[in-house]
Amino acid sequence: QIIYLNGQYVSKEDAKISVYDHGFLYGDGIFEGIRIYNGNIFKSKEHLDRLYDSAKSIMLDIPLKQDEMQQVLIETIRRNELRDGYIRLVVSRGPGDLGLDPRRSPKANVIIIVEQLSIYPEEAYLRGLKTVSVSTRRNVPDALNPKIKSLNYLNNILVKIQANLAGVGEAIMLNSQGYVAEGSSDNIFIVKRGVVYTPPCYVGALEGITRAAIIEICGELGYTLKEEPFTLHDVYVADEVFFTGTAAEVIAVREVDARIIGEGKAGPITTHLLKEFRKLVE
Ligand code: PDD
Repeated sequence: QIIYLNGQYVSKEDAKISVYDHGFLYGDGIFEGIRIYNGNIFKSKEHLDRLYDSAKSIMLDIPLKQDEMQQVLIETIRRNELRDGYIRLVVSRGPGDLGLDPRRSPKANVIIIVEQLSIYPEEAYLRGLKTVSVSTRRNVPDALNPKIKSLNYLNNILVKIQANLAGVGEAIMLNSQGYVAEGSSDNIFIVKRGVVYTPPCYVGALEGITRAAIIEICGELGYTLKEEPFTLHDVYVADEVFFTGTAAEVIAVREVDARIIGEGKAGPITTHLLKEFRKLVE
């Protein structure tokens, strides 16, 4: 396995950064998770746009231009000889002193890891996931804007811990007003009477690239799509619930807090959307 590290291609064992890196000390940095399907980077422009927007928002200078980053991604994949896999692109503030001041970290660390992806088994897509809602609340814009895909994933990790304790694979996070925000690492959608709903990102959700693809597919297929805040009640009584994300693609939910959703398996619209999504990446 070959890792890109600040302009060099090194082995996994040699891919090391300083303990003074502010990504490590303070979670000061940003990242992207990107899929490779059949040797192609899926939605690479969208991912790089989001990365560079996140960087601008937190005043982090990425030492590569966006088109150079694109070339480096391609080269890293080529060296790893992977046709299907997952890319983790990380840009941290870089090494500094023990203070917070980013001016003391003049050189960002840029890391690209390309790996085989372990995904849900195919039957999980048919049966759907069991999930629970958790007490951990999502950051909303008055704290850290959820549009920034930052290295501050503690509330997502706390959600994951709560999911683990409940023995489920993914959980639902609310914002501080009680509106449904997203999963620990996926966006959420519900379907009611043929209409597809997803929370607007200001509720406290990442502007997911899979989410955007599904919104577009809904338009093409003629499904009404509404970006509207909704509560757990709406989730409990939905006909269908599903998550979207780079790793998960489109995965149905069959149970939320012990309420069976619809028929207790992937519903027709979820199945249709997954099928159309997979056509995009074939
Ligand atoms: N997840 N919400 C959060 C908090 C996420 O971390 C992610 C991405 C998503 C889905 O976004 P997208 O469709 O752009 O992947 C939503 C991880 C890192 C992943 O799925 O790779």
